[in-house]
Amino acid sequence: MTTKLGFSLLFLNLILYIAATAESAVSKRSNPTEFIKSSCKSTLYQTLCVHCLIGYANSIRQSEQQLAIAALNVSLSWTQSCASFVKKNTNIRGIKPREHRAMQDCVANIDSSVDSLRQSARELHLMGNNAISEKFDWHMSNVQTWVSAALTYQSTCLDGFAGPQMDGKLKVAIRGRVISVSQVTSNALALVNRFASRHQATTLNKKP
Ligand SMILES: *[C@@H]1O[C@H](CO)[C@@H](O)[C@H](O)[C@H]1NC(C)=O
Repeated sequence: MTTKLGFSLLFLNLILYIAATAESAVSKRSNPTEFIKSSCKSTLYQTLCVHCLIGYANSIRQSEQQLAIAALNVSLSWTQSCASFVKKNTNIRGIKPREHRAMQDCVANIDSSVDSLRQSARELHLMGNNAISEKFDWHMSNVQTWVSAALTYQSTCLDGFAGPQMDGKLKVAIRGRVISVSQVTSNALALVNRFASRHQATTLNKKP
């Protein structure tokens, strides 16, 4: 009796498993933007994630790796334009010495952040289609380290504007930009981590 029930349950699970697999295969094939939307669910700022990446659907297709690269590309270009905005405002007239120092520190941090993001996008790109290689974990951990470092640089810039000593308008303008940049970067890190963990799951499954 119990064996029969156990067998039925096993059979039911098998059916459900096949159904789920078939469904995900179909939705993957039929709708590339669904892939981006569902991947963005693993990020903190989902609307922003979809908004930033939907335009790259054609180059992303169904690839977790291309998705992560596109997210890093977006983060890199937002960070670069943020850097030029802060630089442009570093020497505006009437700026107090203390503000000037905070701006210079911020510029240095945002520049470091640009470097880290550029390195990580390049590393992920260089892995190419050899994502199956033995060195995957090593490359991946470089990428994760650099993207985390980029996030840290960005929040260090924000720390410099935390006090009440800064001019209101300038502070609001810069903080707003750096916050957007760090949200986009946080999303990129989530998608990099997603690519890494999915890849590890696939290779584990392939082991006999
Ligand atoms: C990312 O940027 C690089 C360099 O600009 C470009 O070659 C590549 O096609 C971009 N990848 C995606 C997925 O947007």
